[in-house]
Amino acid sequence: MPNATLPLSTNPNLCKWVEKMAALTRPAAIHWVDGSQSEYETLCAQLVASGTFTQLNEKLWPGCYYARSDASDVARVEDRTFICSHSKDGAGPTNNWADPFEMRKKLKVLFEGCMAGRTMYVLPFSMGPVGSPMAQLGVQLTDSPYVVVNMRIMARIGLPVIREIDKDQQRVVPCLHSVGAPLAPGARDVPWPCNPEKYIVHFPETREIWSYGSGYGGNALLGKKCFALRIASNLARDEGWMAEHMLILGVENPAGEKTYVAAAFPSACGKTNFAMLIPPPHFQRQGWKLWTVGDDIAWLKPDATGRLRAINPEAGFFGVAPGTSLKTNPNAMAALAKNTIFTNVALTPEGGVWWEGMTDQPPAECLDWQGRKWTPALAKETGAKAAHPNARFTAPASQCPTIDPAWEAPEGVPISAIIFGGRRATTMPLVYQAFNWSAGVYTGATMASEMTAAAAGQIGQVRRDPMAMLPFCGYHMGDYFRHWIVMQKKLRETPRIFHVNWFRKDAAGKFLWPGFGENMRVLKWIVDRARGRALGRETPIGWAPHYEDIDWTELDFPRERFDQLQLVDQAAWHQEVLDHEKLFISLHDRLPKELVYERELLICRL
Ligand code: GTP
Ligand code: SPV
Ligand code: MN
Repeated sequence: MPNATLPLSTNPNLCKWVEKMAALTRPAAIHWVDGSQSEYETLCAQLVASGTFTQLNEKLWPGCYYARSDASDVARVEDRTFICSHSKDGAGPTNNWADPFEMRKKLKVLFEGCMAGRTMYVLPFSMGPVGSPMAQLGVQLTDSPYVVVNMRIMARIGLPVIREIDKDQQRVVPCLHSVGAPLAPGARDVPWPCNPEKYIVHFPETREIWSYGSGYGGNALLGKKCFALRIASNLARDEGWMAEHMLILGVENPAGEKTYVAAAFPSACGKTNFAMLIPPPHFQRQGWKLWTVGDDIAWLKPDATGRLRAINPEAGFFGVAPGTSLKTNPNAMAALAKNTIFTNVALTPEGGVWWEGMTDQPPAECLDWQGRKWTPALAKETGAKAAHPNARFTAPASQCPTIDPAWEAPEGVPISAIIFGGRRATTMPLVYQAFNWSAGVYTGATMASEMTAAAAGQIGQVRRDPMAMLPFCGYHMGDYFRHWIVMQKKLRETPRIFHVNWFRKDAAGKFLWPGFGENMRVLKWIVDRARGRALGRETPIGWAPHYEDIDWTELDFPRERFDQLQLVDQAAWHQEVLDHEKLFISLHDRLPKELVYERELLICRL
């Protein structure tokens, strides 16, 4: 029997499962996580002692720690992510499927003794405010203390969650995680244990997650993508709600009226930045304010009156560091100024952190994300990056200056608009509004984006990423589209649907749109449209603003440039629609007919 702290739960099913998994993985010790501050500090001190963490300069970065991952474990691994539904068809053509019986056999072998020499942490967590009717409970067993301390920022964990679990027969999603690096007696550990063989596995019918071999981000913090999107999308389909890869923000206008919108952009395409947008000075003087509810995931559910309401199931931000600065995202900079964990950024000689884009002036020298000496001269010569492009900060959401007073409201906030968007150098205009719900679902279903460093793969390649959920939908994408169509019937008023693209480029390859805070100008049009107050013109793809419909005060943005941004190019759209068909063909047997008709209508209009 391993050395164990007392089980904190009286739930016999939970205790039995923990025992069973301990018998399989054979940890040296078991630690029930209570979630307290003192426990967090002890774990961080332990991570410092083991070389995983460097404590940052307490004056510059109070309560902050720095970690470098193994160079082979830096992002989500989509090709190692599996949806093991009973039938292959249940997972659909856009997911990796494996026979659940075969997969369980494989996992049993992999997990056999995999925690040897390590502590197994029993980590109860709640996605969503504890006790919220929209929250969901999980327990993650993990042999990574790095994961435990990150999860303490990203989710509600520990004793309050145990109390929920023990209350009555609440559903708990079991999540088993191992870095896959057993320690032989007396063997020295490495700072970032992991295994070249990785498996991120979901069993949607039994609501289980098994993750092996990685300690990084969405591969390992199982409450996030694995639970809150892949498993939750299954729960949501069955129970009539939606689990989406969306930020949530509130726009307060000068009259004090607040409008909440949710936006789905693919990984590393601007959700965190948009969620924390600071309006340009002119808007601020007028009294426009922006409030942050969430930056990555939204759970949306119709309330008793038929309004769509959303909660942020997370409690922290696992944000992309590169490009984050006082200029581009001062709110994120404030949120990460203390009590934050940095992974794969650069370490400065004074015990601070740095990443590309953080300051105009790079430090004279630093240690890069792999611990090698880095200088601006070296960067110029070799192009070496100080921070990994998918370097991240893990920061408490409560530290964001614009965190919405209602961000933990158990019933969520009412959503008036949904925005889809991708990273597209061509074709897609800055903004347009879909004609109605089913046209909007079509817009989301056919959206595409250039791939980013958030996942291992071909960066820059344009791929279809329906609703930014391609890597995260835990079942057949055709059924997912149908679920979106069906949701309309549960709503008395549907949110208006929009599409944006901050990333269109000119012939010289330069962004046409300044982005970031200036996105407020687009957001204002969106909010006013959703409230039925702004004008627009009809285009073949939807409603678009005239030049005059956007507030240009204090921004020198010529009409011709705007026309270039908004251009619906016939030839490019012809190509675009052909590409929609490729996706649709792969999903044809489960595609809702509404989307087929929408495509026909679009072709006619073009
Ligand atoms: P995930 O956490 O992976 O889901 O990413 P995300 O969607 O939250 O993306 P994030 O806001 O972190 O932005 C990713 C990158 O895009 C950063 O390097 C940003 O600086 C950059 N970015 C964000 N918004 C804009 C914008 O409006 N214009 C431009 N040009 N770049 C942007
Ligand atoms: C994403 O890739 O969309 C992320 C980062 O938000 S991760 O948590 O690693 O999935
Ligand atoms: Mn994300």
